[in-house]
Amino acid sequence: MMGYKVAVVGATGNVGREMLNILDERKFPADEVVVLASRRSVGVEVSYGDRTLKVKALEHYDFADVDICLMSAGGAVSKEWSPKIGAAGAVVIDNSSAWRMDPDVPLIVPEVNADATAGFAKKNIIANPNCSTAQLVVALKPLHDKARIKRVVVSTYQSVSGAGKDAMDELFSQTKAVYTNDELINKKFPKRIAFNVIPHIDVFMEDGYTKEEWKMMAETKKILDPKIKLTATCVRVPVFVGHSEAVNVEFEQPITPDEARDILRGAPGCLVIDKHEPGGYVTPYEAAGEDATYISRIREDATVENGLAFWCVSDNLRKGAALNAVQIAEVLINRKLITAKKKAA
Ligand SMILES: NC(=O)c1ccc[n+]([C@@H]2O[C@H](COP(=O)([O-])OP(=O)(O)OC[C@H]3O[C@@H](n4cnc5c(N)ncnc54)[C@H](OP(=O)(O)O)[C@@H]3O)[C@@H](O)[C@H]2O)c1
Repeated sequence: MMGYKVAVVGATGNVGREMLNILDERKFPADEVVVLASRRSVGVEVSYGDRTLKVKALEHYDFADVDICLMSAGGAVSKEWSPKIGAAGAVVIDNSSAWRMDPDVPLIVPEVNADATAGFAKKNIIANPNCSTAQLVVALKPLHDKARIKRVVVSTYQSVSGAGKDAMDELFSQTKAVYTNDELINKKFPKRIAFNVIPHIDVFMEDGYTKEEWKMMAETKKILDPKIKLTATCVRVPVFVGHSEAVNVEFEQPITPDEARDILRGAPGCLVIDKHEPGGYVTPYEAAGEDATYISRIREDATVENGLAFWCVSDNLRKGAALNAVQIAEVLINRKLITAKKKAA
């Protein structure tokens, strides 16, 4: 059987490199993988399993025989390039926020709304949600199916890798500077991130929320249910990889912590680690490099009629971005929504 030609755009970035790892780990049926980034990176080597691939420039690349384009090069690049790549006949699976709310672009988390993928052909673009939304809806979906969610209050503890490779460098160099008594330089973040937390991710909106908080609200509605009310506070913390979330949910119908634990134990993408003892929960350090959305600390929220509280952790570069994108590509293949193009010999 013929395999697919896959292009990874943003292959030198945090998400792009993880995409290559995941394509290899999952033995994705690719005949050929091409790696693209900006002109700055031409010739840079990135690894794909035990192979080494040389980066080419996006702007000179001809997508005519590409089947699937995994895109993680930021919103501006995606706004410009995704429609062109889609028009050339490749399906673009995009990680930026550029297309998520476009009514002609499905916004997909395969465990939650894989069926919506079918609408991709209008623009040949499929969007991945924000990293914080992805893990949240994986945990909320099975609970929603059981007891109908009315309202969600979520506070996030988001790692610096969610802001790209430069942000990881900034946490590293600031942490070092603290120990060597050197000056701390803030470039990616508005305040120091080393030994600190910053209640501000993405730009401020008119109502006082940040765009990251707005995304969690709007994307949860689009993916899961427009009737769900959600309010978020998004906070950057000095963790390299792994986003954590403290979540309070109010349901229409009663649901006990034991019921929720059982439901989540059987739910796709979820792993419950919930012993009520020291260390009986998951932290981002353990979730890094893993695929699951981990759920811990499940308990009643007695401040509302049918309330639950829980703690949820996942690897933001994997379920929050690269893994989710590859899972979407697998949905396209498994449901026969795409076929490999015939390549010139
Ligand atoms: N990190 C996360 O947890 C996460 C989660 C969900 C979504 N996302 C989204 O995924 C995207 C990438 O994030 P990241 O964390 O991987 O960022 P990153 O580490 O900063 O990497 C950015 C990538 O984009 C490439 N790029 C930049 N300008 C380009 C251009 N003009 N043409 C072609 N390629 C260009 C870069 O190539 P060079 O090396 O050549 O500059 C690099 O490969 C963003 O849209 C981000 O919002 C990230």
